[in-house]
Amino acid sequence: MAKDTLSVTDNRTGKTYELPIENGCIRSMDLRQIKSGADDFGLMAYDPAFLNTANCKSAITFIDGDKGILEYRGYPIEQLAEKSNYLEVAYLVMNGELPTKAQYEDFVHVITHHTYVHENVKSFMSGFRYDAHPMAMLASTVAALSAFYPEAKNVKDRQTRRIQMMRLIAKMPTIAAFSYRHTTGLPYVYPENELGYTENFFTMVKQIGDRRFKANKTLVKALDVLFILHADHEQNCSTTSTRVVGSSEVDPYSAVAAGVTALYGPLHGGANEAVLRMLREIGDVKKVPEFIKKVKEGNDTKLMGFGHRVYKNYDPRAKVIKRTCDEVFEVTGRNPLLDIAVELERIALQDEYFIKRKLYPNVDFYSGLIYEAMGFPVDMFPVLFAIPRTVGWVSQWEEMITDNEQKIARPRQIFTGAKKRDYVPVEKRG
Ligand code: CMC
Repeated sequence: MAKDTLSVTDNRTGKTYELPIENGCIRSMDLRQIKSGADDFGLMAYDPAFLNTANCKSAITFIDGDKGILEYRGYPIEQLAEKSNYLEVAYLVMNGELPTKAQYEDFVHVITHHTYVHENVKSFMSGFRYDAHPMAMLASTVAALSAFYPEAKNVKDRQTRRIQMMRLIAKMPTIAAFSYRHTTGLPYVYPENELGYTENFFTMVKQIGDRRFKANKTLVKALDVLFILHADHEQNCSTTSTRVVGSSEVDPYSAVAAGVTALYGPLHGGANEAVLRMLREIGDVKKVPEFIKKVKEGNDTKLMGFGHRVYKNYDPRAKVIKRTCDEVFEVTGRNPLLDIAVELERIALQDEYFIKRKLYPNVDFYSGLIYEAMGFPVDMFPVLFAIPRTVGWVSQWEEMITDNEQKIARPRQIFTGAKKRDYVPVEKRG
């Protein structure tokens, strides 16, 4: 009769163990009982980069990488992108359900009234060098918020937690916009309460010399859709970093700063920046086959914006973004790099190398083209990812803090270093 267990025979000892299977997993700790002798520590699972390890139970985001499905709290990403807006999605991600009208209005009110940062945060930011990368400024400033809200360390108290989560969502666009203004040498623009979340950010970035500046509605809507698509993505590198750092029960500003720094890397949130640089380097549609050849030969050249640890099918976010491109380019004019991107995709999707490895465009393949058309410099691209991902980070952080099964994260290692030896004075070293 079928049983939800796994039988394991240790051929070193001939002993057989029966391990329970729950949610398609065995517990790694159940392996510990498998010992080759009395002195043996017990069997561990070796899984560099967590390729096949579930680190938590989560009720926030569902991904089926083979089918190309992404859902937040059960709602398909395509429906949310078409029908909702970023703050409603943020409420959903944080609370598990779509808000009622009253809940939504209250949420928007709270977020809007937390968008200002302490004036000392502004002074802190003005201390950066003129050419500081905006993502480095964002990461440091988010970490610095910990010094402004010392009560945030009370992570076990729900109300305290919730205020910090709202503050982070609310202040992230302000800090992001300030970092942009800093690198461009422009004065910081303060948030405006009568503007929506995304429009407010756009205005803080773009307003120069005219207080009546009105952001283009199509561009604001497109950016809002991009924010929805980036709100959460289950246990990715930056979310895992936030959870791991947060598991020490440090305050959420410090934990989220870890998320921001993880996102900065070119294999994660920095990929859209890398895509743009790659498209510029290719420079012409005619050079696409030559570039693809170089990628296939290895030599450290990757087709940036392609491939994903989880999606082995078209990234559903990339599909929505590709459609958004058309709406944006109608306002801004066509980005000539789009032709190169479309040709890269066309050739790659027919090529044995990419087919065999199940490499498809990911969220970053087209998003950079939109950001560039909107007038954002490439350095701002990961920042534009960090703003909406904040709700994912704080929601996952809270889920971790309130999960009784979680403890401080502390993986094991396989020690490969030198055996015990005696110290050699410097004059006797060879
Ligand atoms: N171009 C060419 N070859 C690739 C690419 C690519 N973009 N991605 C993976 N491969 C190859 C890789 O060389 C390997 O080949 P082989 O089996 O011959 O050694 C095979 O495909 C499997 O790749 P992997 O590196 O083992 O896969 P991974 O799951 O460790 O890496 C990834 C996932 C996203 C880091 C990787 O696909 C990549 O570097 N892509 C480019 C960077 C990028 O677009 N990142 C954005 C990810 S989506 C946004 C986000 O969530 O941050």
